[in-house]
Order: sequence, then structure tokens, then C-alpha cells
Amino acid sequence: MELRDAIEKRQTIRDFQNMEVPRDIINYAIENAFKAPSYNHLREWDFIIIKNLESKLSLIKAENLDKISSKVGLESVFEKEATIMKEMYLDAIPKQKKMILNAPLVIVVVFKPKTKVLDAKKIYDLNCLASVWACIENFLLSLAEHDVFGVTYIPQNIEIVKEILRVPDNLEIAAIIPIGYRDNSAKVLKQKTIDLIGRIHIDNW
Ligand SMILES: Cc1cc2nc3c(=O)[nH]c(=O)nc-3n(C[C@H](O)[C@H](O)[C@H](O)COP(=O)(O)O)c2cc1C
Repeated sequence: MELRDAIEKRQTIRDFQNMEVPRDIINYAIENAFKAPSYNHLREWDFIIIKNLESKLSLIKAENLDKISSKVGLESVFEKEATIMKEMYLDAIPKQKKMILNAPLVIVVVFKPKTKVLDAKKIYDLNCLASVWACIENFLLSLAEHDVFGVTYIPQNIEIVKEILRVPDNLEIAAIIPIGYRDNSAKVLKQKTIDLIGRIHIDNW
């Protein structure tokens, strides 16, 4: 598949079919993920593949996703926001628990931090985070190439999640990514149209 096709195809999906994703596809996507640029040339990333229900339920509990509001209560919260953003949140928020439960696999991407996030003072200190996101994009594009999609969920209670998954203390979690084949019920959300001319600046702003 052409690169452009995979880029066009990739989208966030939160509704998954009850269908296994072959391990070859996951391995291919991880292999490509490791080809991303990394700030110190070391590619200090790891992938945890979660299959069992017990671990998924522990993640949901750690993140308090059981307590998430229904769509009805959310309407007023996003009343004043741009329609396109409101539509995304109204679709996404009620699905945070279900997407972890229903995804055939949940991938946790781990990275080695250069500076602890709380100690970071400059963007430069977050180079490790920038690098792992380049890795995540390669991963998502490679899955999209095989009609497998995901949603990047960033945990709030990272220390508890690390404990549940037995992630070594010196490492951090970049994202929890439920992945699978798109269910027919998945809503296709409108994307913001970008005026490229206005976004490209030559020599200076
Ligand atoms: C850093 C980051 C954090 C995100 N966090 C969440 C999240 O917690 N829950 C969720 O459902 N989607 C999350 N998303 C997915 C975004 O909502 C999605 O990427 C955005 O709406 C654009 O849609 P697209 O990915 O289909 O282009 C996150 C995306 C990024 C890049």
C-alpha cells in the first residue's frame, strides 16, 4: 500500500468487531514502529500486548472508567465548544470503558524517560515523549494498512497502571491503545478542514 493511502485510512476507532487480529499484523506494526526516529538513537520503547479480560478490567478500574457519564449528561459540558470537537467528545467519552473491554487486543506503549515529566522544564526535556509518539504513529499507520485501527488513550493514573502491568519503575507509559477491526456501528466523525496555504509560513511567520 502507498504511504498516502495508509495515512488517509488511519482514523481513531472506538467500536471494534469481535474478531481476532492475527499476530503477524501486530508484529509487522511493531517492527515498523521501531523504525521511527528517536532522540538518542536508542529506541527505548516496549510494547505490552494485553489479551486477557482480567487485565482489561484492572485498567478500567485503575482509570475510574466505570464512573464515566452518559452522553446525556455531557451535552451541557460541551455546549460552547466547536461542533466538530463536541461531536468527537460526545461519541468518545461514553465509549472509554467499552473500547478497552471490546477491543480484541490492548497495546500498552512504554518508553524510557530522559527527564521525569514533573521535572521537565523545556520542550527539549520531553524529547523521549516526542520520539515515542513518532513510534506510535508508525504503529497506527502500519495497522491501518491491514484495516486494523486503534484509539490512543493516555492513562491518568499511570503509577497504578504501571503496578498492574508490572512495568519497571524507571519506565513510563505513553499510551494505552485498544485495537481491532472497525465495527460497522463506528461513527465516522467529521474532520477539521485545514487551509494549508494559511498554515505554511516561508522564512518567517
Ligand atoms: C495525545 C492524544 C490523546 C488522546 N486521548 C484520547 C483519549 O483519552 N480517549 C479517546 O477516546 N481518544 C483519544 N485520542 C484520540 C483523538 O480523539 C483523535 O485522535 C482525534 O479526535 C482525531 O481523530 P482521528 O485520530 O480519527 O484523526 C487521543 C489522541 C491523541 C493524539
